[in-house]
Amino acid sequence: MKYLVTGGAGYVGSVVAQHLLEAGHEVVVLDNLSTGFREGVPSGATFVEGDIRDAAKWLDSSFEAVLHFAASSQVGESVVKPEKYWDNNVGGTMALLGAMREAGVRKLVFSSTAATYGEPKEVPIVETAETAPTNPYGATKLAVDHMITGEAAAHGLGAVSLRYFNVAGAYGAHGERHDPESHLIPLVLQVAQGRREAISVYGDDYPTPDGTCIRDYIHVADLAEAHLLAVRHATPGEHLICNLGNGEGFSVRQVIETVREVTGHPIPEVVAPRRGGDPAVLVASARAAREKLGWNPSRADLAGIVADAWEFAQKIAREQ
Ligand SMILES: NC(=O)c1ccc[n+]([C@@H]2O[C@H](COP(=O)([O-])OP(=O)(O)OC[C@H]3O[C@@H](n4cnc5c(N)ncnc54)[C@H](O)[C@@H]3O)[C@@H](O)[C@H]2O)c1
Repeated sequence: MKYLVTGGAGYVGSVVAQHLLEAGHEVVVLDNLSTGFREGVPSGATFVEGDIRDAAKWLDSSFEAVLHFAASSQVGESVVKPEKYWDNNVGGTMALLGAMREAGVRKLVFSSTAATYGEPKEVPIVETAETAPTNPYGATKLAVDHMITGEAAAHGLGAVSLRYFNVAGAYGAHGERHDPESHLIPLVLQVAQGRREAISVYGDDYPTPDGTCIRDYIHVADLAEAHLLAVRHATPGEHLICNLGNGEGFSVRQVIETVREVTGHPIPEVVAPRRGGDPAVLVASARAAREKLGWNPSRADLAGIVADAWEFAQKIAREQ
């Protein structure tokens, strides 16, 4: 089968593209390299440097499905430049859906996010929970989810939105290298590498056992496996939404302690004020993904996730 992977030069897209290739599929990566890296595209994939808004140039009926990762995804930036997020995430996906309709490509897997829920009223978060995003990034992703629901109902698209919680870890030559980095595990690893003096802990007075925020970390390879199952599941006229997480949370302090154990570095901490819009606990119920997709994540161990991310960070540092 032949798949279009938008954003396949980025972190998650490159790992999923690698999994598709290993499963024997043909992969075309479409990426404008705005935050991705040419060398991140797995060897074996065909690379097209271009924008999702121009997807019609490359899509044709030979593609079985589109796996859509391309987006702007920095929460902080979305607050100061919301127009960029509406344009790229919503405008870009609207163009992509139009190109798919024209070309007769009828299956889509979309990278949605836990940020669509906002402050949860109950944890673990189920897919029927209220969606009240607290920043433009989450709002644009929610808007795309609604757009896909309409496309499935009106035009028979078969789609699965996967709402990732905190993606972490690495897979072979593919890992996380956002710039600027805003994710906790790579930031703490930068301290271990001496690239940053200390890690900021934003708030240590939350109603959690150690006072720091709790998040649900999911290994990027487990996430990739869910995408392969989702593409197989996609059913014409149906839009399925599934959370992807481990259903288990780790606090900021637990993550820092795990990085200390894995790297042997002391990792100095600086406590900073809480950031607005940071809920105390964000943990997924992944029951729908397990029951509807048959997903069975096997890499939930935090030390293993951190060790894989550490190996990748060290590899990139050696290459620079
Ligand atoms: N990493 C996470 O923890 C996380 C959590 C929830 C959701 N997501 C979503 O998963 C997806 C992938 O995230 P990531 O961490 O790999 O991000 P990333 O920035 O590493 O990858 C995104 C890729 O999309 C490309 N891109 C952006 N706009 C484009 C456009 N208009 N045309 C073509 N290419 C374009 C970028 O160059 C980049 O290679 C995003 O949609 C993100 O919102 C990520």
